[in-house]
Amino acid sequence: MPKLSVRNVSKSYPNGDSGATQVLDDISFDVHEEELLAILGPSGCGKTTLLKIVAGLLEPDEGKVFIDEKEVLPGHNRVGYIFQQESLFPWRTVKQNIEFGLEITNVDSAEMAARVEEIIEIVGMEGLEDHYPHEISGGQARKTEMARSLVVSPDILVADEALQNLDAQTRNYLQSEFLRVQDLTGSTILLVSHNVDEAVFMADRILVLSNKPASIIAEYKVDIPKPRIRTSQECLEYRSAILDVLRVEQEKAMSSSRLKQSAST
Ligand SMILES: Nc1ncnc2c1ncn2[C@@H]1O[C@H](COP(=O)(O)OP(=O)(O)OP(=O)(O)O)[C@@H](O)[C@H]1O
Ligand SMILES: [Mg+2]
Repeated sequence: MPKLSVRNVSKSYPNGDSGATQVLDDISFDVHEEELLAILGPSGCGKTTLLKIVAGLLEPDEGKVFIDEKEVLPGHNRVGYIFQQESLFPWRTVKQNIEFGLEITNVDSAEMAARVEEIIEIVGMEGLEDHYPHEISGGQARKTEMARSLVVSPDILVADEALQNLDAQTRNYLQSEFLRVQDLTGSTILLVSHNVDEAVFMADRILVLSNKPASIIAEYKVDIPKPRIRTSQECLEYRSAILDVLRVEQEKAMSSSRLKQSAST
């Protein structure tokens, strides 16, 4: 039984000329319990839009989202969300930021303290609880966001470019940390990334989206045991196949923008 099912989801945004631009075109996929599914796609193709629909933050024009085979409607709170932009409250400490995840639930203060302490230990932020966001590194900020999303034990964690804007070494380290935390918490994760190397290193399965309007153009089951060695022949083979698919999409986008330019001159 899939943990999450997305069925025939389409979405358009108004484009200002009383028309609409279609962003998602009939997207369907499943994510299984404890699976890490990565979604790759060209910039602006609709990845964040898709995650927001999964998390109930945005309503699709068509299609449905199911968790544990029951339909969920916009406004549901079954998904933990790590946003594309850093989203810690600067006036709250690490611990208070993590507590925020629980404040909107009915958890009593003793249980809140126990859960916050446990998740701080899981993500490895002990000793930094009372620091403010400007007193921790970018990598530690991402770990704090991960902890804030996981402290409510969500059914699914969605992460939108969770590890961008970090130097390569920190990014690689956090990819392993992310997998370690997933292992400890048994989370089901849907991860959006621009980074093919990251997807191949982390994911059990990878979906590749087309240019806008996004549809699923390729799927890879990454059959390599974890922990993976990112420079191994197997990893490089997946990487090269996926990069080829993305290159074709990019060429299509460039030639269609050239066509538009020449039509307008
Ligand atoms: N609220 C909105 N109103 C109108 N258009 C929007 C809105 N949000 C996003 N868009 C447009 O929809 C398209 C998809 O946006 P989205 O943020 O989902 O893409 P993305 O794949 O996450 O991009 P990136 O890789 O740059 O993060 C873009 O062309 C964007 O400009
Ligand atoms: Mg995005």
